[in-house]
Order: sequence, then structure tokens, then C-alpha cells
Amino acid sequence: MASVPFDQMDGEIWYNGEFVPWADAKLHVLSHGLHYASAVFEGERAYGGKIFKLTEHTERLHNSAEILGFKIPYSVAELDKACEELLERQGFSDAYVRPIAWRGSEMMGVSAQNNRINTAIAIWQWPSYFKPEERLKGIRLDMAEYRRPDPRTAPSKSKAAGLYMICTLSKHRAETRGYADALMLDWRGRVAEATGANVFFVKDGAIHTPDPDCFLDGITRRTVIDLARARGYEIIERAIMPEELEGFEECFLTGTAAEVTPVSEIGPYSFVPGEISANLVNDYMQAVQPLRAAAE
Ligand SMILES: Cc1ncc(COP(=O)(O)O)c(C=O)c1O
Repeated sequence: MASVPFDQMDGEIWYNGEFVPWADAKLHVLSHGLHYASAVFEGERAYGGKIFKLTEHTERLHNSAEILGFKIPYSVAELDKACEELLERQGFSDAYVRPIAWRGSEMMGVSAQNNRINTAIAIWQWPSYFKPEERLKGIRLDMAEYRRPDPRTAPSKSKAAGLYMICTLSKHRAETRGYADALMLDWRGRVAEATGANVFFVKDGAIHTPDPDCFLDGITRRTVIDLARARGYEIIERAIMPEELEGFEECFLTGTAAEVTPVSEIGPYSFVPGEISANLVNDYMQAVQPLRAAAE
């Protein structure tokens, strides 16, 4: 399955309000979203037939579009329903869900005031982002060359396609150098996040994570903070400088795709995935499973 290109998979895609055959979900090369990155998207996972925190994701999609100056022409409730119906039609219980909205082809220039806003949803089977054996021993991160931009230079609170340009560059460089991913600093030189996930560190039993003031405050990040607090762990959200990496004992990433993934190395610094990481990996895997009690 991995070798089938994404435009040749089976099933249907929800496209501007209709379910269309997968191969027919096309757009014209003169689309503003392609040329000027006027696109926002979401990444969601379904577990046991239910999309985890679906409405939170759909609300973030709406908000991302508003930050880029456009309004998605479907309500949050309509998009939630479309995601749920598509998951059922695709026949998957565990899957990845990708809604996207972009400016169309009516104008082709920097200005795109009259362009149609297109919306689509695709759902496919996508196992863990990182291989299971890699996850348990912790993945290795490179230090990225690119930094998360100053919020005055980019709409950093939007899950906007354009913001991923430096993520792809950083991830490619890391992979070429033999790492699984890269840790990005922010514009001030503080620790920020990985290319598609937030980062946490453990020291003396407390959990430290950067303030999300110029990058995505992930839905998984917030879920894991709640799970950690429920276990009585102290969470400290603060500015973290790269020199501090030396003193941390454990490190893990959080994200819809990455779930909770322990880290064993960031550049010259080593970490040993320990009890706190393992507990949160397990707590998260339980939290995402839909409650079965009602059905039994
Ligand atoms: C750059 C970036 N940071 C953080 C996250 C984590 O966000 P979430 O937990 O909402 O998936 C993601 C994933 O969407 C991401 O792409």
C-alpha cells in the first residue's frame, strides 16, 4: 500500500460538499492555494471508528482560515458531519483525516479577493508516524537550521500550508543526515518544536515545555498536559534555551500524527525514555480510544 501514490488510492474524497471518486478530486494548476500557499489544513486521527477531538480540529481549521483572511463556506457542524460520514464510507476504524481549504482559480495574483474557497476532506489508513521499534527506544532528532518565525512576520497561529515550507526543508535535511526529525528553535533562539509535533522535557520529576507563543499549541499537547496533571505531574510552561537540553533526563514529542513519541537524542544531547514518558505514551493511547462502556 505504501507504494501507491496518494492520487491513485481507492475510495472517495469529500470535495466542496460532495463525495467524489478518489481519482476525480482534482484542482486546476492555476489555483491560488498552489501558487501563493493560501491554504489551511488539519491532521486528525480516528481510533476505533471515532475521530479524536474532531470538533476542536474543525474549529482550528475555521480559525486558521480566518487568520489567513478567508471564511470556509461550511460550518463546523457540517464539516464534522462530513468527516464522520466519509470515515464510514471509507470503511476504516483507525485512520488519518486530512481536511483542507484553499483559494481557487478566479484570480491569479497576490490579491485573491474574489477567489472561491474550496474545501476537501481525505481519509486514509496511516499507521504510526514513527516505526514502533523506533518509538520505544526513542527517536533521534537533528537541530534544524530554520527557526519558527516571529509572529510579526508570519501568521504563526494558523495551521497554514506556507508555514510548512521550512518544516519540509528541516525534515529533509535531518533525514539526509540520518535522523528521524529535527528540533526547531524559534526566532529568538528558544526551543520551539519539531517539524510536525510539540516537544516536552523531564527533569527532577517535573515536565517542562516551551510556551506556544509563536507555534501551534497542539491539541495533543493540551491533551497530554491534562493527562500529566491528572497523574499529579508538575507541568512548567516556560521559555527553554537550547543550552538547557543537557540537563534534561527525558524528552518526548506530541502530535496527532506522532502521538506521544519518546526522544533519545537531540544533536549532541542524550535522553533516556523513562517512566514519565512511558506513562504518558500509555495514557494517551487510552485517552484516544472511544469509550466502549456505553456500547457494552
Ligand atoms: C508544526 C506542528 N506543530 C505541532 C503539531 C501538533 O499539533 P496537534 O497536536 O494538534 O496535532 C503539529 C501537528 O499538527 C504540527 O504540524
